[in-house]
Amino acid sequence: MAVISLGYVIVETQDLASWQDFACNIAGLMAAPSAREDVALFRMDDRPYRLWVQKGERNAFVAPGWECADRDSFESVIAKLESAGRPVERAGVMEARARQVYELARSSDPAGNPMEVFYGRFVDYAPFISPAGVSRFVTGDNGDMGLGHVVLTAPNFEEAHAFYKDVMGFGDTDLGRFYLMGGGPDDPGVGFAFLHCNGRHHSLALGQLPESPNGAVHMMLEVGSLEDVGRAYDRVLKSKGKVPLSATLGRHVNDKMTSFYMQTPSGFDIEYGWNGLVIDPASWVPTTSLSVSDWGHKWAHESE
Ligand SMILES: [Fe+2]
Repeated sequence: MAVISLGYVIVETQDLASWQDFACNIAGLMAAPSAREDVALFRMDDRPYRLWVQKGERNAFVAPGWECADRDSFESVIAKLESAGRPVERAGVMEARARQVYELARSSDPAGNPMEVFYGRFVDYAPFISPAGVSRFVTGDNGDMGLGHVVLTAPNFEEAHAFYKDVMGFGDTDLGRFYLMGGGPDDPGVGFAFLHCNGRHHSLALGQLPESPNGAVHMMLEVGSLEDVGRAYDRVLKSKGKVPLSATLGRHVNDKMTSFYMQTPSGFDIEYGWNGLVIDPASWVPTTSLSVSDWGHKWAHESE
């Protein structure tokens, strides 16, 4: 009775046209029909959309849409949110219909990160055709692994971590604490938690960091081959800085993802990767990874 996948994400932008260009021509997502002029929808699999980009005053990641399997699970998550003291707002029928789900509610985590929770898996079965020639986006069988992952900040790390486990039903995959102040007894360290809600290594990561100005640290999209990653990398380089490269190609130690990072028109990053680790949640023992990347992932803000 918990969340089962990252179903969609909501993004806000001042400039819908540059998001359209970025999503289709750099990331290789497919534009989907939208009933609203101020909303652009993008597909990556059988779902009618996975990215909802709305025109607004901010450039920001707005909210993840966490999927529940059915009405009972949805009601159970809402009851847990309410008993944990989180604000819950049930969306009206027309709002749920616009999101193409059966029922929808809005809430937030204890760090203040907004979220949506829904049930009703709508599928349009129109063939996915990438305008940039991406072979496929990896979302699991029937989309069970969700669209990728999202990384959020939580200055109140312990509280937020406990919330995602106890209230939302996530499990620990990989936990880390980085001691940046010498590592003495007075150094509390900076906590990281990589959490799963299906076989994907993590659908959510939390970092004990100050609130992100763009609503999220990054979100990850996974593609079907290393060539898909390499060609997208080339498209970013070819944009000559129009799409800023945030981190070079590299491989993460914990989820084995070979990826690079680029900045979206809304300011947060997209990690674009291949070959992420799939775990068996029933038998997985949480790990602690002592480093972040096996090779690469040189960040643009790092000095030589
Ligand atoms: Fe990531």
